[in-house]
Amino acid sequence: MNDRVLTGIPGFDELCDGGLIKDRTYLLAGTSGTGKTNLAFQFLYNGATQYGETGIFVATEERPPQIRENLSRFGWDIAALERNETLAIIDACSTKIGIPSQERYVDVRPFDMRATLDQIIAIQDATGAKRAVIDSSTSIGFHFQDPAKIRIELLKLSTTLEILGLTSILTCEIIDDTMQSRFGVENFVTEGTIMLYNQRRKSVRVRSMEIFKMRGSDHSKDIHPYEITSAGIVIHPHEEVY
Ligand SMILES: Nc1ncnc2c1ncn2[C@@H]1O[C@H](COP(=O)(O)OP(=O)(O)OP(=O)(O)O)[C@@H](O)[C@H]1O
Ligand SMILES: [Mg+2]
Repeated sequence: MNDRVLTGIPGFDELCDGGLIKDRTYLLAGTSGTGKTNLAFQFLYNGATQYGETGIFVATEERPPQIRENLSRFGWDIAALERNETLAIIDACSTKIGIPSQERYVDVRPFDMRATLDQIIAIQDATGAKRAVIDSSTSIGFHFQDPAKIRIELLKLSTTLEILGLTSILTCEIIDDTMQSRFGVENFVTEGTIMLYNQRRKSVRVRSMEIFKMRGSDHSKDIHPYEITSAGIVIHPHEEVY
């Protein structure tokens, strides 16, 4: 029986036999605005506040001050978790776009996978982190030219996180309509894939999620509605999407 890591995301853990399998890397894929950043961060926030597990968040697309501000809408005091070292954010965004960063942890430029992993290792050594999020793998993929190279680099990333003893989520951008990931390879480099949808039904959009793949585990094969509420993401495991 595999050890499980509770996400604590309402409705999620019961869909996959009690949580994510420990020390494995998962892909969280969805079109823009589906809630990937929110859900991935909620996994770290719950780890820090409910399960005594430190988390590392690598932010490639949004600057950390914006992330803290956006997530404060859910009543989450991210800065307090950083102060007590149950959460660390690596700013991998500012240097990429060439602006200064006041952050404690800043990724180097030009992007170097080894340097990013070294920083994750250093933070883990200092804090004993058990969870990690890379937001997003798509952004990292753009640093490499061809799909074969992207596939190898993302496999290196996901496998290294597993060897380090981090249960991790890589977010991934899905291109509208096609339901394909940006580079078409991301799904193959992780142990499981969670899909987020925001589909149009007449004049409204309906949010739903699916555990698309989970190696080594039983899991729900259905599509379940979810909401983004004032307290974060809530999945409705017993309701159907019409
Ligand atoms: N307090 C809130 N209450 C309800 N919904 C919210 C709240 N805060 C954010 N949202 C919803 O969450 C969405 C953004 O979520 P998030 O940033 O996690 O998406 P994403 O999938 O990471 O997007 P991107 O691909 O652009 O990075 C917003 O578009 C909004 O619909
Ligand atoms: Mg995002």
